Amino acid sequence: MPTPVLHRTRTAAPDPGPLLDLVRAVAADTAAWRPHVRFDARQRCWSRLLQTDDVDLWLLTWLPGQQTSLHDHGESAAAVTVLTGTIEEVRADRDGTLTREHLTVGDTVWVPQGAVHDVAHAGAGPAVSLHAYSPRLTRMTYYDVGRHGLRAVRTVEDDQPEHEETP
Ligand SMILES: [Fe+2]
Repeated sequence: MPTPVLHRTRTAAPDPGPLLDLVRAVAADTAAWRPHVRFDARQRCWSRLLQTDDVDLWLLTWLPGQQTSLHDHGESAAAVTVLTGTIEEVRADRDGTLTREHLTVGDTVWVPQGAVHDVAHAGAGPAVSLHAYSPRLTRMTYYDVGRHGLRAVRTVEDDQPEHEETP
């Protein structure tokens, strides 16, 4: 598995290049991720594939009906790529405008620090995706959309990725 080399300081936003390169390289190395794929209809599954001082890399699986809710990644930025199936990513502007995109195998997106999004299963079959976070994920804030735009409703201090909000 490649070890990402990030070019940033502690106070600067991460450079998208190394994280995007990382998820693409791991996606191409089927033996690195295939053994970690498992599905559970009761809850989504995630497995950490790599952790360095600056990066967490997680494999997530998605069955019909499984999704997160609107959230940010705290101080972390993220690169996401789809390994199998289809997922839907929803981005939310501060005014609450939602933009939806279906991502299929090989599609890779950058989620900047502060971006608010939601990820859901889409399409017919199971889906698998890779999510690399830098700095390492430590906090997620969840949002809803009200009359006045996005509203933060809960912040969770956790290093687990993309989990459902648990009130
Ligand atoms: Fe996310």
